[in-house]
Amino acid sequence: MDLLTRESDDHGQIFESIAFFKQSLAAISVEDYGYIRKVKAFIAQSIVAHFAYEESKIFRLILANGTLAEKKIIRDLQIEHINVLKEVDVFNDLVRLYNHGEKVSIKEMRAVIKGMISLMLKHARYEDQKLFPIIKAYQ
Ligand SMILES: [Fe+2]
Ligand SMILES: [Fe+2]
Repeated sequence: MDLLTRESDDHGQIFESIAFFKQSLAAISVEDYGYIRKVKAFIAQSIVAHFAYEESKIFRLILANGTLAEKKIIRDLQIEHINVLKEVDVFNDLVRLYNHGEKVSIKEMRAVIKGMISLMLKHARYEDQKLFPIIKAYQ
């Protein structure tokens, strides 16, 4: 599978998951561990593994061969990755507290998930628009 096809398939799944999370977020309760597990799976697959793939295969290729303007886009995307991962850390910490039997506010949990998916949505849209045409030129 070429880089652009893989990237575009991943993004299709990301948009689908985000639509699901957005739709069901208001209804979750703090005892709804099934939902939390789905968020954890989304983070592992569509955030952590997806970012690692982009950074090792795509960003590296463009940083080595791209123009200055293209490299700037990659640096902006790297910053966005870090910002999403900071939210992931907050989410993981809430889950850790929850697993240790500590009281976790559902309001806080919702806010973190909401923040994470909104950053991720913005990021994936930006990549669709700015990164996909560059991948096409270098793959
Ligand atoms: Fe990305
Ligand atoms: Fe992406």
